[in-house]
Amino acid sequence: MIKEPLKTTIENYVHVLFDSDPTGHDYYHMKRVAHWSKVLAEKEGADPFICEVAGWLHDAGDAKLFPEPVQARKHAVKFLSEQGITEHVCRQIKMAMEDVSFSKGQTPKTLEGKIVQDADRLDAIGAIGIARTFAFGGAHSQLIHQEGKETAGSIQHFYDKLLKLSDLIHTKSAREEAQIRHQFMVDYLQRFLDEWEGVNE
Ligand code: ADP
Ligand code: NI
Repeated sequence: MIKEPLKTTIENYVHVLFDSDPTGHDYYHMKRVAHWSKVLAEKEGADPFICEVAGWLHDAGDAKLFPEPVQARKHAVKFLSEQGITEHVCRQIKMAMEDVSFSKGQTPKTLEGKIVQDADRLDAIGAIGIARTFAFGGAHSQLIHQEGKETAGSIQHFYDKLLKLSDLIHTKSAREEAQIRHQFMVDYLQRFLDEWEGVNE
């Protein structure tokens, strides 16, 4: 668990970076990923401090969110090194923050990295995952659903990515929660398509 005053300092840093994000990558996404990273670390015997800090900062430097991703990532690492965290632990946090993204297609090298990736993936599925997907779609002027069109609507993202995530979870502790969230999305999609197709009857 991150203790005060570091906890408040990290929260403030994350507020400044992500408060105005309308794409589902806001402060609360970081808070949930940090929370799940800590919980999973405790269950899996990984380092909870490294996982929680990396969870808070995992999207600092994401190319979709920052015009200068390399600079943003460097800034986050520098910020950490200024918080009295040893160089060795800083390096482990940095490693856990890297390779988390689905789109990069990487499997993180360390257990801590795998845990942060699992926590990030849990937040992409289930009820919150659904909300984030439509928020992302709206923020990118994407339609809810496009029938048989080349340009994809947000519903297409479920098939392209979200329904694949529960099979890509690394840890046993995250898998059970992922399966519950996966089933919720399957049920939601069925209901969505029933309502959508109802007008064609
Ligand atoms: P990662 O960094 O793990 O690849 P992304 O940042 O691309 O994940 O996606 C995070 C979330 O943003 C997704 O779970 C989804 O909710 C939303 N998202 C990303 N791409 C799209 C898209 N094309 N349409 C709708 N939502 C999307
Ligand atoms: Ni994320």
